[in-house]
Amino acid sequence: MASVITVNLPQQSYKIAIAPGSLERLGEYMAELKLGKKVLLVSNPTIFQHYGEKAIATLQAAGFEVAHHIIPPGEPYKNLDSIQKIYDAALTNRLERSSTMVALGGGVIGDMTGFASATWLRGINFVQVPTSLLAMVDAAIGGKTGVNHPQGKNLIGAFHQPSLVLIDPDVLQTLPVRELRAGMAEVIKYGVIWDAELFAQMEKSKNFSQLRYIKAELMDFILTCSCQAKADVVSKDEKEAGLRAILNYGHTIGHAVESLTGYTQFIHGEAVAIGMVAAGQIAMHLGMWGQKDAQRQDELIKKAGLPTKLPADLDVNAIIDALQNDKKVKDGKVRFILPTQIGAVEITDRVPTDTVRQVLTTMGTS
Ligand code: GLY
Repeated sequence: MASVITVNLPQQSYKIAIAPGSLERLGEYMAELKLGKKVLLVSNPTIFQHYGEKAIATLQAAGFEVAHHIIPPGEPYKNLDSIQKIYDAALTNRLERSSTMVALGGGVIGDMTGFASATWLRGINFVQVPTSLLAMVDAAIGGKTGVNHPQGKNLIGAFHQPSLVLIDPDVLQTLPVRELRAGMAEVIKYGVIWDAELFAQMEKSKNFSQLRYIKAELMDFILTCSCQAKADVVSKDEKEAGLRAILNYGHTIGHAVESLTGYTQFIHGEAVAIGMVAAGQIAMHLGMWGQKDAQRQDELIKKAGLPTKLPADLDVNAIIDALQNDKKVKDGKVRFILPTQIGAVEITDRVPTDTVRQVLTTMGTS
């Protein structure tokens, strides 16, 4: 089954195409966009080993001249040095204003390739071919691109929308199960903030606790609903003037947990899962959310094999302090996204610190 979702934007609308086996037709999809002949494919060693040859072959068959550039894996390489190396490859291969950079990989590759394409020659075309669940449902869509500064994640960046996002669910077969779970945290997020039906379908699924064996139809539904949720929100608020902040559900406390554990104990989706449990508890304490819905959320997070508790050695006061350093703090006030029912959230900066402390102290440790 194939689905196509449109991200409607004033400057440049684009399609998210979701279809099993579509990686083999990347060249055809790109040829339809009438892009220039030159393509720089950016990937990491593992993904390139699995899918690089296939991607290059389809692009060449469609008449593109393809060069490739490989970046070592992981967050430590998400920096300006790696961008400089992409620029070097763009120069060596004489990329022009009409040329395209293709990101074949997870969120790190997508964010970096996006940033390099936003800035090379003041902006060239960019296509996202996400290979992790998290990148498929979140990082590849929305136009936020960037790299880390030694003092913080994603501090350097630009908005630069892709011309196409091509999702081939078949590539998830080579994704480690921990990464699959982490991506599922963002999917559960869409269920809570936007799409009650998506949430209910995941709850109903018998395979959901065995993500590797999830049925193809359910995965297709999950991908389609999640991408539609992200597309809807980004189409309404491209540059995060308001609504788009709801996508940060679970991320306020999640980011603090991630950074205080040195980005080594949890991968992003795992920290977001803990953050969602905490946000749910805060909403309950404030009388915004019922206990039944909070339990449904926490059960689904557990069913996906994700953590729901804080690490025992994490100091609650350190988390409270870290919240103040969040990029999203405005006028010294921490902004929380809190659920009001499954499928709806509110943005508020009026959460008493004592409530946050009480929740963090009582939510349990692992
Ligand atoms: N690139 C991810 C986003 O724009 O949200």
